[in-house]
Amino acid sequence: MITFDDKRQIWALHTDHTSYGIGVDRAGRLKNLYFGGRLPGDSEFGDPNFGFPFGASFDPPEGQGQFEYPTQTGMYYVEPCLKATFADGVRDTALVYHRQEQTSANGIPTLTITLKDTYYPLLVHLGYRLYEDCDLIERFAVIENTGETPIMLEEVLSGIWHLPRGRDYRLTHLAGRHTQEFHLYQDRLTPGRKTIESRRGNTSHQANPWFAIDRSTATEDYGEVWFGALAWSGNWKIAADYSPTTLLQVSGGINDFDFAWVLKPGESFQTPSFVGGYTREGFGQASRNLHHYQLRHVLRDTADPRPVIYNSWESTFFDVHEDNQLALIDRAADIGVELFCIDDGWFGQRHTDHAGLGDWTVNREKFPHGLTGVIERAHGRGMKFGIWVEPEMVNPDSDLYRAHPDWVYHFPNRSRTEARNQLVLNFARSDVQTTIFDALDHLLSTYPIDFIKWDMNRSFSEPGWPDADRSQQREIWVRHVHALYDILRRLRAKYPALSIESCSGGGARVDLGVMPYVDQFWTSDNTDAYDRLSIQEGFSMAYCARVMESWVTAAKHNVKNRDTSLEYRFHSAMMGSLGLSLDLTASSEAELDQMRRLIDQYKQIRHIVQFGDQYRLLSPRFGDTSAVQYVTADQRESVVFVSVQLQHFQDLVPVIYLRGLQPDALYSVSEQSQPLSGQALMMRGLDIRMAGDLKSKLIALTQISD
Ligand code: GLA
Repeated sequence: MITFDDKRQIWALHTDHTSYGIGVDRAGRLKNLYFGGRLPGDSEFGDPNFGFPFGASFDPPEGQGQFEYPTQTGMYYVEPCLKATFADGVRDTALVYHRQEQTSANGIPTLTITLKDTYYPLLVHLGYRLYEDCDLIERFAVIENTGETPIMLEEVLSGIWHLPRGRDYRLTHLAGRHTQEFHLYQDRLTPGRKTIESRRGNTSHQANPWFAIDRSTATEDYGEVWFGALAWSGNWKIAADYSPTTLLQVSGGINDFDFAWVLKPGESFQTPSFVGGYTREGFGQASRNLHHYQLRHVLRDTADPRPVIYNSWESTFFDVHEDNQLALIDRAADIGVELFCIDDGWFGQRHTDHAGLGDWTVNREKFPHGLTGVIERAHGRGMKFGIWVEPEMVNPDSDLYRAHPDWVYHFPNRSRTEARNQLVLNFARSDVQTTIFDALDHLLSTYPIDFIKWDMNRSFSEPGWPDADRSQQREIWVRHVHALYDILRRLRAKYPALSIESCSGGGARVDLGVMPYVDQFWTSDNTDAYDRLSIQEGFSMAYCARVMESWVTAAKHNVKNRDTSLEYRFHSAMMGSLGLSLDLTASSEAELDQMRRLIDQYKQIRHIVQFGDQYRLLSPRFGDTSAVQYVTADQRESVVFVSVQLQHFQDLVPVIYLRGLQPDALYSVSEQSQPLSGQALMMRGLDIRMAGDLKSKLIALTQISD
């Protein structure tokens, strides 16, 4: 619900459990008044004219206001959302309130507050979409040049979240590297700035655009948490600025590093969305709010569960050809796989990672019948068919690069740094966009392909576009992402049944920006079932289990640290969207039987995992036992995955206290002979016996009485 008190010039944005207040001060400036738990009345938000009670000539009070969309102006020294240079060289943007509009699209109330510069022809439209059922607000800004001369934008953030003045704030964030994505870090904030960001062109393995702030006391279940996530797949940044006066603000948006955008007369620039929320129920509820938002409002198709996928990568790597894929197709179909995907190696002269990227035609030596032979077999065996592509990349050893060496990002007089023997195509160029869209379109119109895995296997370097006007050359960071989204959008419009996985050397392109255009993410190239537990936990802080593709792979193969049982590997992968990538032709009949049983079991419980509420019961960060629970929205079914990594002495597994059940209902529990009430399962917990290292259990609960 959005209300506006015209007399006091105060907006109140209420979700089910939170309130957000904005007001206009006497000088016409837009101030943030409040962001926290739901307040009963709009008169309780405070006064937009309240200034900081003290100051000095170095720090006048008006520079310390909690501006809703601060700009580079006056004596304001924290992160501005907007830095612009007008045609006459003025680098100061002074915004005042202009008008407001309230609309509603698909039941989502939306507020647009328009600010205007006091002198120059510049409008800033601040958008707020309210997801009341998820307790989330989606913010974005549109900068409009209403004048006759270009305006140079040097920083345009999506927005700033202001937290109440306070102490002991702590930042929780995700960081990592290739094969070690989504690791959780928690740091107490001291005065100064903490920035998490990507300058690599993609979302990155090194950091993910999600944050949470608490008062150093929140747990999974209790305590105030402010949190947010950015919908952007290119260079991004989230900065927490904590002042010695105990003000805290968290800004976020497109990274201003190496950024510049020429806003031509009559044009607008829209920022990505920055989603933010607040809860008093700890990190667990913060995550569930984001999960609900993704399942209800961001993902396109959530009617059916994601299929069980077989992917050829960790079985045949680049050595894919019709014969070995047909053999795998048959085995995969036998054990209940629902979608068969041929990974890298099927196109051009792609025998290793040294050649072929850019040449998206089927290698006829490997596949004499084109893809028809494998697709017909997969479809004939009742499976969907998918293919791997890496459209943003080119190997210098490719026909595409030989014909168009100027189509990659590069600077004259500088070498072109290769990584994995490849270069990044300049997606800012319209000829490159057309060529790549046409190549994918040709593939999808020639063959009945149901799924593509869209990969992106290196960070940018030499981000030059020598053919472009000098003033626009830094726009590549943004134009690349716009082109990526545009191609995905067009593919989805033309092939509505096509589903898409976003991959970037594992989990370097997992974010809310690309999520509307894809159906799932490749989580990590690290498929070690134990390492995955912490990767998956970090992933779950921000993203729902449905989109988290997880494979069962061979023990001790590729990126693997240890030998684990098939059951342990399955249980680890069943916590998301289950997939497999191991050589089924080398598996014994007994192993295939076990896989068939476990896949079948996954199909029985996947609606709970993929659509349910997730509870992180025991974290792999804090001990040798970890447990994750999922509960359906109607609370009738639940599943718990318990993993014991290392048993010390004869220590017992900790009691596992379940969550999210109906207290008065009785549940059958697969580990217990007697049914137990929801209350007992949550209060007394489950006391289970497990012995040994790298052991796991799947416990299923079903309500048997109301
Ligand atoms: C990346 C992906 C892998 C696989 C390879 C193929 O590393 O993350 O899953 O597709 O590329 O080259």
